Amino acid sequence: MMLVESCPQKTWQHVNSARQRGLLTGCVPTMGALHQGHFSLMQRARLDCGFVTATIFVNPTQFGPQEDFSKYPRTLEADLELCRQAGVDLVFTPQTDRMYASDAETTVRVGRLSTVLEGAHRPGHFDGVTTVVTKLLLITQPERAYFGQKDFQQQLIVKRMVRDLNIPTEIVTCPIIRESDGLAMSSRNRYLSSVERQTATSLWGALQLAQHLCGQSQAVPAAVEQQMQQKLLQTAGVELQYAVLADPETLLPLPERVSAGTKAVALIAARVGSTRLIDNQLLTFG
Ligand code: PAJ
Repeated sequence: MMLVESCPQKTWQHVNSARQRGLLTGCVPTMGALHQGHFSLMQRARLDCGFVTATIFVNPTQFGPQEDFSKYPRTLEADLELCRQAGVDLVFTPQTDRMYASDAETTVRVGRLSTVLEGAHRPGHFDGVTTVVTKLLLITQPERAYFGQKDFQQQLIVKRMVRDLNIPTEIVTCPIIRESDGLAMSSRNRYLSSVERQTATSLWGALQLAQHLCGQSQAVPAAVEQQMQQKLLQTAGVELQYAVLADPETLLPLPERVSAGTKAVALIAARVGSTRLIDNQLLTFG
């Protein structure tokens, strides 16, 4: 039987009793509107752990004032059904006022990593993420927590935070789940009209182009980046925010010349209509 709990204290108690029974505890933090991407994280957690908690909380502090907090899809009943199918033991789904006291004044902030790329386009976003993830990890006490590569910068920041603060949770990054035409699954895809949905596949197209170009011998990072950008700039209906190659550990730009075997990540953010999409792909230079 899957437990559904909105009280932080009771959630902590459930997990604590599982730990006392000797079960390995896992957590999958989400904002709901669950899809196969989330499902894959829960399945992985189920394989690894004796007790799996999923959290469903649309965290207001990670949305900017002009962003989609109020219209973010909320589909709790369907979400709980998916959690059941994945074999989740406990769903923590708190109300906002139980997560944030009205006079809360403590936040968790990761430095430079939070200020580049997504951080530059969404000021304050990662402070909201790291603060709520810290709270969720404290409440759900996981030995392992599962994040998607889909939010590449997020998983990197969470790993850095856990290391820097000695939080005793291993962060496991799971692969991006895509639609059959390559579009990365996202709760925000449901905002797309059918024309926009078609256009949105261009992000995957640009990532594939980057992968192809990187695989060629003596590929030059700036040239790959430029071609990726050009492809997206030429696509009608796409408003490009960034398309870059970066070091996958630090998100710093790559050197001008790289040797064969150098690892990189291609990261894209773009608006399609009013919907903001992100995607990425790990690359190895040939
Ligand atoms: P949310 O966008 O709901 O995503 C929850 C988790 O699912 C994240 O780790 C995300 O990377 C992963 N995910 C989303 N789409 C995926 C896909 N197509 N394939 C694989 N994994 C995917 O990310 C958040 O919520 C929030 O910022 C959160 C961490 C819960 C903090 O509020």
